[in-house]
Amino acid sequence: MSITNTNTNAKVIVALDFEEKAQLHQLISQLDPSQCYLKIGITLFSQFGPQFIKELHQQGFDVFLDLKFHDIPHQVQGACFAAALSGVWMMNVHALGGSTMLQAARAGVERAALQLSRKPLLIGVTLLTSSGPQELQQMGFKKDVDEMVLQLATLCYEAGLDGVVCSAKEVAILKKRFGKTFLCVTPGIRLPEDDLQDQQRVMTPEKAIAAGSDYLVIGRSVTHALQPKVLLQQINESINV
Ligand code: C5P
Repeated sequence: MSITNTNTNAKVIVALDFEEKAQLHQLISQLDPSQCYLKIGITLFSQFGPQFIKELHQQGFDVFLDLKFHDIPHQVQGACFAAALSGVWMMNVHALGGSTMLQAARAGVERAALQLSRKPLLIGVTLLTSSGPQELQQMGFKKDVDEMVLQLATLCYEAGLDGVVCSAKEVAILKKRFGKTFLCVTPGIRLPEDDLQDQQRVMTPEKAIAAGSDYLVIGRSVTHALQPKVLLQQINESINV
């Protein structure tokens, strides 16, 4: 079973954070499965559920299921088993659930993989890219952002996950510690002219790839663009895909 488990060499994962199905279909009809992966997050999943994963698979897209599970180990193992059975390419849990929860997540995915032709990639969310030093302090953490991300990534690495979600700003530290094959998936991607909106730890696509990111999660910069397909094409060219 290959670690990449996909037929495309795309590096961009488009985040489909829409509430309206019409907008969603309009966007998807413009995109090509060779150009990008698609991410289903909690906004979409809460409304359209697992059926929507099937719809994207039928259209040839590989799916990142971004539900960020964070619960007791038994519950997370069950959720990961079910999510993996849907045949997604990548899925995630929150590293803040701790070591035992992360191991349970991996066990759930491995159990499902016995029934699948490919094993989903399982990654752990370290610290949301919308959080910065102030949020860490408010939540009672004493470490700085880099130290916190490194500590949470260590839990993921030791639990045998395939990688982490982090900001591109932390990728160099993580690759140095855990090696090139430990995946770093980075949201918080903004084009130079973009508004940061709710994100804090951001980088441009080119800089994020230069920093070593394996995959870029891009939402509103692409999905709210006047010409999403053209913009995605330009981003792909800028990162040599
Ligand atoms: O629109 P924007 O590019 O900010 O969207 C970022 C996407 O990445 C959202 O779907 C969000 O849920 C996701 N994400 C994130 N930070 C994380 C993990 C996931 O922004 N740490």
